[in-house]
Amino acid sequence: MAGTQFICTGCQAIMPGNMDTLRCPVCGDPVDILRADTGGFSEPQIAVGQQWMEAVTLGEGRTPTIKLSRVAESIGISSLYAKLEYLNPTGSFKDRGSAVVVAAAKAAGFSEVVEDSSGNAGASVSAYAARAGMKAHIFVPSTAPEAKIRQIQAYGAQVHPIEGTREKVTEAAINFQQSRQLAYASHVLSPYFIEGTKSFAYEIFDDDQNPFPDHIVIPVGNGSLLLGTWKGFTEFRDVEQMKCGPKIHAVQSEEVMPVVSAFLGKQEKNHYETVAGGIAVGSPARKEQIVQALRATNGQAVGVSDDDIITWRNSLCEQEGIFAEPTSSAVLAGVQKLVLQGTIKRNEVVLIPITGFGLKDPL
Ligand SMILES: Cc1ncc(COP(=O)(O)O)c(C=O)c1O
Ligand SMILES: [Zn+2]
Repeated sequence: MAGTQFICTGCQAIMPGNMDTLRCPVCGDPVDILRADTGGFSEPQIAVGQQWMEAVTLGEGRTPTIKLSRVAESIGISSLYAKLEYLNPTGSFKDRGSAVVVAAAKAAGFSEVVEDSSGNAGASVSAYAARAGMKAHIFVPSTAPEAKIRQIQAYGAQVHPIEGTREKVTEAAINFQQSRQLAYASHVLSPYFIEGTKSFAYEIFDDDQNPFPDHIVIPVGNGSLLLGTWKGFTEFRDVEQMKCGPKIHAVQSEEVMPVVSAFLGKQEKNHYETVAGGIAVGSPARKEQIVQALRATNGQAVGVSDDDIITWRNSLCEQEGIFAEPTSSAVLAGVQKLVLQGTIKRNEVVLIPITGFGLKDPL
């Protein structure tokens, strides 16, 4: 990866970028790609950091944004917009990140990738690996929804079900990857993944059809969409001296809310069982970075109940015709809470991503 440099999210050390570096050798914190003057997509090439590489694309990104009038009325706000991330090729926003991390693994000469995921990132990396002519090994919790496992298998990936906690799944994936010297295409630690999700922010900036949001409310597990969004906005603001970015808020399930606890300075009480499986992450590796990003935008972090997540999943279907995963409908419960606590004013513009398609996790 000659040319691309990483920066530590903790001590700010700068180091050469490559697929093998997932944490800072100095302090052990996760790393990001150092902002480059080049950037963007110009198929068939993409610029990642300072390096141009061959794109691996399935047509991800450029998702539509639609107004949700009925749901907005139920919440009591006037302008609620949804960016339909479930219309990405494998049915979730993860495709933005997978496209870049798989391209980076291919450019580095790997022919097999390893990923651990509760489902959506696994399906996404599997699809992009297939597209790149690579083999994928996906480590999943043995409790992952069957529909997601079937989707991973459909792309020809090898599924490795692991019993025990989510941390055990990661441990097994890393052991396997290291013993076989394969590429770890982690949606959590790989800075290439976040480099991909930042296109979500680029598209919001480029959107001249809809009003620019005052608030973006994002479901957070490991924070790849939230951090990519933040990184994308930071680049725009620095480079083009544009208006201040929107407030970015994080939503988690009350059952598993380490980011909310860290944000509020409260002790964690994680139960690990929630209907929102995609955000059930007890110890997110980038927790500090997520909290920093929230504070930098004057955002908030809120926990919502499983009952509210299910109620909103049903309302989204019945009132707007959008079939979202419970993980995705959690943001609406979050918007409602943020309105009730006065963080979102009734006439402000709110944007939510609908991150995953409902058929993947039909409860
Ligand atoms: C549908 C859906 N929404 C949101 C998330 C949260 O993404 P992240 O873990 O990157 O914060 C996930 C993660 O799996 C997901 O599958
Ligand atoms: Zn460091």
